[in-house]
Amino acid sequence: MNKRTLVKTAICSAVLTALAGTSSVAMAQEAFKIGLILPMTGQQASTGRQIEAAARLYMAQNGDTIGGRKVQLILKDDTSLPDVTRRLAQELVVNDKVDVLAGFGITPSAMATAPIATQSKTPQVVMAAATSSITQASPYIVRTSFTLPQVSVALADWAPKNGIKKVVTLVSDYGPGIDAEKYFKERLIFNGGQVTEALRVPLRNPDFAPFLQKVRDGKPDALFVFVPSGAGAAVMKQFLERGMDKAGIKLIGTGDVTDDDQLNDMGEGALGVVTSHHYSAAHPSPANKKFVEAFGKANKGLRPNFMAVGGYDGMRVIYEALKKTGGKGGGDALLAAMKGQIFESPRGPVFIDAQTRDIVQNVYLRKVEKKDGQLYNVEFDVIKDVKDPGKN
Ligand code: PHB
Repeated sequence: MNKRTLVKTAICSAVLTALAGTSSVAMAQEAFKIGLILPMTGQQASTGRQIEAAARLYMAQNGDTIGGRKVQLILKDDTSLPDVTRRLAQELVVNDKVDVLAGFGITPSAMATAPIATQSKTPQVVMAAATSSITQASPYIVRTSFTLPQVSVALADWAPKNGIKKVVTLVSDYGPGIDAEKYFKERLIFNGGQVTEALRVPLRNPDFAPFLQKVRDGKPDALFVFVPSGAGAAVMKQFLERGMDKAGIKLIGTGDVTDDDQLNDMGEGALGVVTSHHYSAAHPSPANKKFVEAFGKANKGLRPNFMAVGGYDGMRVIYEALKKTGGKGGGDALLAAMKGQIFESPRGPVFIDAQTRDIVQNVYLRKVEKKDGQLYNVEFDVIKDVKDPGKN
């Protein structure tokens, strides 16, 4: 080999090495993308704000590199309109090539995305929506929020033992409301109580006044309410304005109505309201105390609600799955690694049931009380490891 050929060969191999180096670096650095679709504006905006804050907190606490992969969050605002959710999910899968779809503030948004998750084999982590049937809409759905049947039954067991036999139900007229109405009613009747009237209010721009007037005239022992997160304060206000409490009608419901995002502004009239739910910011565990403190610190004192916990735990499920695949990802491998996860959430111990891909968790009975000058849902009883009763 003459000198010239030698130099040429050396340059060639140097270039090749550099090229190979570049491509392996590029491979290793290709981000793991999470498409987070949330209602950041519109009627459900508080859900978007809470989940985004929780997801960012999880990343700040756990780093943004897992198994050598940089984790990238791509946030999209669907304004809680399912047609928009569907379009955004499609774009995230096709254009951004996301590894996971996550978020979903309301049931219709989760349902609209399910066929896209199935077709593209992309895990869809539902962090908020809570109609029982959602997980059956795609084998790629995993849920970290809760279901309405899961939390409603406990209250129907508690009520008749506490002097509440005659109940009127008032629910938002769509998936989760219909689930809450059905499971509460069936269990109450089983326990010897009765639902004298089942009222349904529209999801969009509801006016509770005419419904509440009707309830007042019927004089039940209690009014059972489900409205989605963000609408509870309006119900509470009109309930009190109409003097329903003074007329001897108790307000009970799922914890969505005494939502931690709004509870502290509801005023003393909320004191004593009993609800059943899977999360309270006042849950007395060290893990929750740490979570509430860190969340507040990162968000100007904002109190996390049950939506935030669904988002925080959803990020954990994704991170742990990515870790298990050694940073490789892949829809089916991620999904397999999400199933069966057991961990301690700020809400208490949780489990992602491998069969149903739904969350198994404790359900708490809580009463609104004042603690350190602030209103909280204080837990007074617990039903452990509750599976969604909608899936038998
Ligand atoms: C739902 O649409 O599934 C949903 C939204 C808000 C809630 C509960 C359920 O608080």
